[in-house]
Amino acid sequence: MKLQHLVLPVLLVVFLASFTLSLSHDIDVHRHHQETPAANNIRVGYGGPISSPSQINHGGHDNFDDSDLALAKGDGIKDDTKAFKEAWKRACSSRGRAMLFVPNNTYLLKPIKFSGHCKPDHLTLRIKGTILASPNRSDYHDRTHWIGFEDVDNFRVEGGGTFDGNGRIWWKNSCKINKSLPCSAAPTVSCDVPRMQKLRVANMKFRNAQKMHVSFQKCVNVIAFGLRVTAPEHSPNTDGIHITGTSNITLRNSIIATGDDCISIVSGSKNVRATRITCGPGHGISIGSLGAGNSEAHVSNVFVNEATFSGTTNGVRIKTWQGGYGYARNIWFENITMNKVKNPIIIDQNYCDKKKPCGEQKLAVQIRDVVYRNIRGTSSSEVAIRFDCSEHFPCRGISLRDVVLEAAPDNDDHHGRDDEVEASCHNVTFHTRGKVSPSCS
Ligand SMILES: *[C@@H]1O[C@H](CO)[C@@H](O)[C@H](O)[C@H]1NC(C)=O
Ligand SMILES: *[C@@H]1O[C@H](CO)[C@@H](O)[C@H](O)[C@H]1NC(C)=O
Ligand SMILES: *[C@@H]1O[C@H](CO)[C@@H](O)[C@H](O)[C@H]1NC(C)=O
Ligand SMILES: *[C@@H]1O[C@H](CO)[C@@H](O)[C@H](O)[C@H]1NC(C)=O
Ligand SMILES: *[C@@H]1O[C@H](CO)[C@@H](O)[C@H](O)[C@H]1NC(C)=O
Ligand SMILES: *[C@@H]1O[C@H](CO)[C@@H](O)[C@H](O)[C@H]1NC(C)=O
Repeated sequence: MKLQHLVLPVLLVVFLASFTLSLSHDIDVHRHHQETPAANNIRVGYGGPISSPSQINHGGHDNFDDSDLALAKGDGIKDDTKAFKEAWKRACSSRGRAMLFVPNNTYLLKPIKFSGHCKPDHLTLRIKGTILASPNRSDYHDRTHWIGFEDVDNFRVEGGGTFDGNGRIWWKNSCKINKSLPCSAAPTVSCDVPRMQKLRVANMKFRNAQKMHVSFQKCVNVIAFGLRVTAPEHSPNTDGIHITGTSNITLRNSIIATGDDCISIVSGSKNVRATRITCGPGHGISIGSLGAGNSEAHVSNVFVNEATFSGTTNGVRIKTWQGGYGYARNIWFENITMNKVKNPIIIDQNYCDKKKPCGEQKLAVQIRDVVYRNIRGTSSSEVAIRFDCSEHFPCRGISLRDVVLEAAPDNDDHHGRDDEVEASCHNVTFHTRGKVSPSCS
């Protein structure tokens, strides 16, 4: 195929710039690159050194070097994987500061890995359009990812566009939906081994993932905000944001509505902050599961502040398997609203997500120093607070302050119903301050 003669709807702007970009700023994007006007053509361009941000807009098109054009159809039907690979290669090997711009079209992609170590000091993937996953399962030789970002430091993904995992075919073939099928991996969008530093994901949509929508794995210093993650409530294992082996990650102002955990935080993660998260439907914000298959797990310093859960199966949950070891400690849940949540507050040390029952085991991941503060709203089940801790490693240092949970009004039956909710507490040492209701007896 002759790449040069086709319409090329991805614009790759690779430019050198003298200004610097700090990861800690959320809103400086607009200053640097405005909307690229009418980007119907793909161009790979090398601008000269840019002294002011506005030159990116105006100067860009004129000094393009068209000798190595990338190709993309952007029709959502033809495979654009190759075009993206080429475009990435060029962005990654340019110097200074680089941006890969994806206009508002739909691009079909097979599994693809965007890998470093890239030359630019800062690399931005700016997506206006939709990146759609190939629906052909045989395209996925490596099921660890659909889109993988690996080894790219100082990297940003932004632009208001969408990653669409086209997940229906995977859900249908999940062992959770069709019990006669074996359980196998499904791909996901992930940032990956070994360690991405300074990653920023802003104002992006993720929908209908094959499995987890976004997985931060072994990343350091991550900021993610303005994310909107959606999949049907019945879709299996479609966690919103999965955090594993990652430290110093901040998530904020995000809306997550999927078929599994809105946020799941698992082993090797520390210094995790989640603020202003709207969750539901889904399985809530979970720490864990930890300790599966007698494994060691460590999670510490997790702060959840200002979250709203609506119609979720759990609110704030810590779940561990019997037989694991390690710890989950220094965990704060604060300023949280529960609307008709089945298990608003739950620690489950007898977690077992298997077809066969899990046997009784002595070891457990130690849970300690967990604070629940200013948590209000309604429970759709009778047990609003459940601490089901290990007999051999009881939960310690559990603190509840201003926690008031009531029975959710039942629209079908206003009469003759017991409107009390209760707390169920086993093998836990705790203290309370302020009003706490229901409370462990
Ligand atoms: C892309 O185009 C669609 C349809 O015109 C529009 O609704 C959407 O907001 C656009 N997306 C972005 C990120 O501009
Ligand atoms: C799916 O992909 C495989 C190999 O990648 C290919 O042989 C097959 O024709 C594709 N099927 C469809 C329906 O495109
Ligand atoms: C479940 O999987 C089996 C084995 O592949 C298949 O025969 C059956 O049609 C599937 N059931 C549904 C409801 O898809
Ligand atoms: C994480 O953040 C803390 C405090 O902000 C800092 O001291 C630490 O070096 C950071 N960790 C990494 C791996 O960058
Ligand atoms: C929780 O909300 C209260 C009242 O708005 C505020 O004072 C407090 O700082 C919040 N907690 C955190 C951890 O930000
Ligand atoms: C743990 O909880 C179980 C169930 O309530 C109880 O029978 C057992 O005595 C508790 N063990 C300890 C060490 O408190």
